[in-house]
Amino acid sequence: RRKQSRKGSMAEVPKDLQNQIKEFEDLFTVDCTKLKQIVDHFVHELEKGLSVEGGNIKLTLQPMNVTWVFSFPTGNEKGTYLALDMGGTNLRVCEIVLGEEKGGFDITQSKYRLPEELKTGTAEGLWGYLADCLQQFIEYHHENEECLSNLPLGFTFSYPATQEYIDHGVLQRWTKGFDIDGVEGRDVVAPFEEVLVKGGLPIKIAALVNDTTGTLIASAYTDPEIRIGCIFGTGVNAAYMEDAGSIPKIAHLKLPPDTPVAINCEYGAFDNEHVVLPRTPYDLIIDRDSPRPGQQTFEKMTAGLYLGEIFRLALIDIVDHKPGLIFEGQDVSKLRKPFSLDTSFLSAIEEDPYENLLETRELFETTLDIMTTQPELEMCRRLAELIGTRAARLSACGVAAICKKKNIESCHVGADGSVFNKYPHFKARGAQALREILDWADHEVDKVDILRAEDGSGVGAALIAALTLKRVKEGNL
Ligand code: GLC
Repeated sequence: RRKQSRKGSMAEVPKDLQNQIKEFEDLFTVDCTKLKQIVDHFVHELEKGLSVEGGNIKLTLQPMNVTWVFSFPTGNEKGTYLALDMGGTNLRVCEIVLGEEKGGFDITQSKYRLPEELKTGTAEGLWGYLADCLQQFIEYHHENEECLSNLPLGFTFSYPATQEYIDHGVLQRWTKGFDIDGVEGRDVVAPFEEVLVKGGLPIKIAALVNDTTGTLIASAYTDPEIRIGCIFGTGVNAAYMEDAGSIPKIAHLKLPPDTPVAINCEYGAFDNEHVVLPRTPYDLIIDRDSPRPGQQTFEKMTAGLYLGEIFRLALIDIVDHKPGLIFEGQDVSKLRKPFSLDTSFLSAIEEDPYENLLETRELFETTLDIMTTQPELEMCRRLAELIGTRAARLSACGVAAICKKKNIESCHVGADGSVFNKYPHFKARGAQALREILDWADHEVDKVDILRAEDGSGVGAALIAALTLKRVKEGNL
C-alpha cells in the first residue's frame, strides 16, 4: 500500500455533504476573538476560586484546591517510595528510588486496568481492588514484603479533593464518569488505610496527590523553567505555584505572603455557569446523559473521555435528521451505542495516510459494521479534524489563563496524558492557539512551551512524599 498525497480529494464531495461539512465547521470552529474572550473569563474564574467565596465550595465553582505542596524540589531529594496512581483509565503501582544522582530516579512499576464496573460500583469494591493491586505488586517485586510495606506511599488520586492537610482529602465530587456511592463528601485516605490494615498491609499514606500537582513537581525536578503542570488525558486539568499572599481563602493560615503554594485548579469545571464556552448540541447531550450533569463543562468539550462520543453524536444526528445523507441502507445499531467510539478512533482517522482513506474505511467496517463511500469518509475525516482542533485550541486557553494571571511571559509547561501524548497534531494545534491568544504570531520560538512531562503520577507523588516528610522532620507545617 502506497501513501499518497490527499490534496484535492474534497472536490469530489457532493454539494449536500459539502454543506454538512460547512455546518460542522461553523459549529466547531473557535476563532481567535473567541479564544481571547474565553481566556479573559478563565483568568477571572481562577481568581474567584482563590477568593474567600471560592473557598466555600459550591458545585458551580472551579475549586482551585490548595494542595499543601509548598516548594519545588531541589533535585537533591532522596529515598525509596511507593506510589499508587489511580487515574481515569488505569491503575499503576510504582516503587521509586530518588536521587542516586541530582534530579535522577529509578522506577519499577506494574500497570493494571481499572475494571469498568468498578467505576460505578461500591466504595469497598474500589478500595479492595486498589489494596489487592498494591499487595500483588509487593509480592511480585519483593521477597521481603516487610521492607516494602514500610515505605511511605504517595497516593495519586486524580479527582477534586479538599485537603486540610496533605495526608487527607475529602472528595468534592467524582469526575471522568466515576459514580461510586458513599465516597463524595468524605475523606478518602482513612477508609483506604483501613482496608490496607485489614488486608495485613499497614502502609502509611504520606501524601494524597493530584496528577497535575505531581506533574508540576516531577517536571520541575528536571527542568527549572517549569511553572505549570497539565494533564490532557481522560480528563483535563492543571496545577501551578501561587503565592500565599494571593490566596485569600487561606489567609487564616498566616503564611508569609511569598510562600509558594501549589494550586490544583480543577479547571475541568471551568464555565459550569455557561458564560463563554461555545457548546454544540452534542456537548449538551454528553452533559445531560453523564452521571454528573452541569459539572466539568470544559472537560466535557476537551478531554479524551469525550472526543469519540462527540463524533458519534454528530454522526447519529445526521443519520436521524437528514435521512439518506450518510450511511444509506446501513445498519447503524453499533454506532447508536453510547461511548462505542473512543478517542483512539478519531486519532486513527486523523492519522490515515491514504488518499482514499483506506484505513478509515476499514475502521468503520470492523468497528461499526458500516460500509462507507468516499465522500462519507471525507466528511468523517473533516469532522474528526474539527473536534480534535477544537479540543486543542480550548485546552490552550487554560494554560494561557494561568500565564496571564501570573504575568508569566515565558516558561515551560509540563504536560502529560493520552491526548497530549498520542492524539495527532494536538501539540501543534495547541501551540498555534497559544500564539494567537498571546499575540506572538511573529515570534519564531514559543515563549510558553508545552513539553512532555516527567512521570507526574509516579515520580511526582514520590517527590511530594519526600518534600512532606522533610517538612515534618524540620517541624514546618
Ligand atoms: C479530572 C479530575 C482532576 C484530574 C483531571 C486529569 O478533571 O477532576 O482531578 O487532574 O481529571 O486527570
